[in-house]
Amino acid sequence: MSRSFFIQTVGCQMNVLDSELLAAELCRHGHETAESLRCADIVLFNTCSVREHAEEKIYSALGRLKNAKDYNPRKIIGVVGCMAQKDGQLIFRRAPHVDLVVGPGRFHRLPELLDAVAKGRGPCLDVSLDRADGDKRAVRESFVPFTPWRDGPVRAAPHQAMVRIMSGCNQFCSYCVVPGVRGPEQSRPAVEIIDEIRRLADGECLEITLLGQTVNSYKDVSGRKTIVLADLLEMIDAVEGLRRVKFVTNHPRFMTGALLEAVRDLPKVSPYLHVPAQSGSDSVLRRMKRGYDAAAYREMIDRIRLTIPGAAVTSDFIVGFCGETEEDFQRTADLVRSARFKNSFIFKYSPRPNTKAAELYADDVPDSVKRRRNNELLAIQNAVSLEDNRPYEGRTVEILVEGPSKTARKRNDGSSQLVGRTACDRIVVFHGPRELIGRIIPVRIDKVDAFTLFGSYGDSMNAG
Ligand code: 5AD
Ligand code: SF4
Repeated sequence: MSRSFFIQTVGCQMNVLDSELLAAELCRHGHETAESLRCADIVLFNTCSVREHAEEKIYSALGRLKNAKDYNPRKIIGVVGCMAQKDGQLIFRRAPHVDLVVGPGRFHRLPELLDAVAKGRGPCLDVSLDRADGDKRAVRESFVPFTPWRDGPVRAAPHQAMVRIMSGCNQFCSYCVVPGVRGPEQSRPAVEIIDEIRRLADGECLEITLLGQTVNSYKDVSGRKTIVLADLLEMIDAVEGLRRVKFVTNHPRFMTGALLEAVRDLPKVSPYLHVPAQSGSDSVLRRMKRGYDAAAYREMIDRIRLTIPGAAVTSDFIVGFCGETEEDFQRTADLVRSARFKNSFIFKYSPRPNTKAAELYADDVPDSVKRRRNNELLAIQNAVSLEDNRPYEGRTVEILVEGPSKTARKRNDGSSQLVGRTACDRIVVFHGPRELIGRIIPVRIDKVDAFTLFGSYGDSMNAG
């Protein structure tokens, strides 16, 4: 029976993509999208477990739905994604009105499980095997890659799309739940990826973002010749109609010379590299089990700068990791000052169950210190970002126009402020007609701040 559904997504781009794919699958099974969580027959929370805060928000949202079935007895409440995999049965105990819990490795079964719940056969739980609950192969096979085709309308914008090229992670950084909840690394066959990208480019899609937890360790060994990310980019660069390719998230250990040369030489590949450092201190990096030291990270940055002048590099940092001293933190601050990231995402360490860090080390940096370090690092990064944005004043850049700016969306009065991005992922805000959305156009930059370039288009480009 057809039902209306609403998916609430938290977390990373991988989750945003999963929600799109789930929406497409549900539509294929005859369901339709609902306007809001309140009026939907099916509410799915696509969840994140990377930090505790994200989980607490989901549990509070679930709490608020406690009486929802009094008003709509047909209502089905599902928790899917990373927290579903991590907490499993615990979710039913903490929120007994939940009907369905499905891990990211079991999304292919979601339509079937929803039918079972609708027929009164709930509650249903389907999660992948824990790494300790089976041999390597059984665990891998329990994480089924989820890559169904989805049509334009479920994507946020027809001219942009995310494409998963790998799932899972084999790195086991000591603080991170991802290898547990997303399972072992599995690369998707290149032919399948190229086929999906061709179909997207045959539509209106101009820009593709390739997704993987460690996207640059991509390796397709299914054919006669092993295909690594540099090879895949070359194949994607040849797809007609496509204009831009980005890829996230890179791990410093797999930043090969061949990959950097591919980024330099392939015209459609954006000179934009997200390569999280996490810390600038060797002792912290060792406890994090990142597999490199600060000197190796700096050497990688030098190689990027030498090979791809003008590349934008971005990073993630965790502050207040177990045992992080003021001196350790200063090393991170030095790295942020010298590496000149376009921007950095900074997080306070959050201990996660079933990770090595939670098992081995005390979460001994007080929250007030984590907060101060977070703010200090952000201030250093913002100063760098502002300085490096300055030279853009007076320059003309090419941008892909994404849609109305945040301000225009908030006002919702059809005002003409638009937002787009340069190939190196800088955000540009300018005034122009909405017909420009989905086009690649030149914009003259008039002024900048640390986060945004403000520009003008068309006749107004020459004014002043
Ligand atoms: N606490 C805080 N931040 C974390 N991240 C991953 N695990 C944790 C954790 N336990 C951050 C890392 C990663 C980003 C996606 O989230 O910086 O790169
Ligand atoms: Fe987590 Fe490390 Fe894997 Fe990234 S590389 S997903 S931080 S374990």
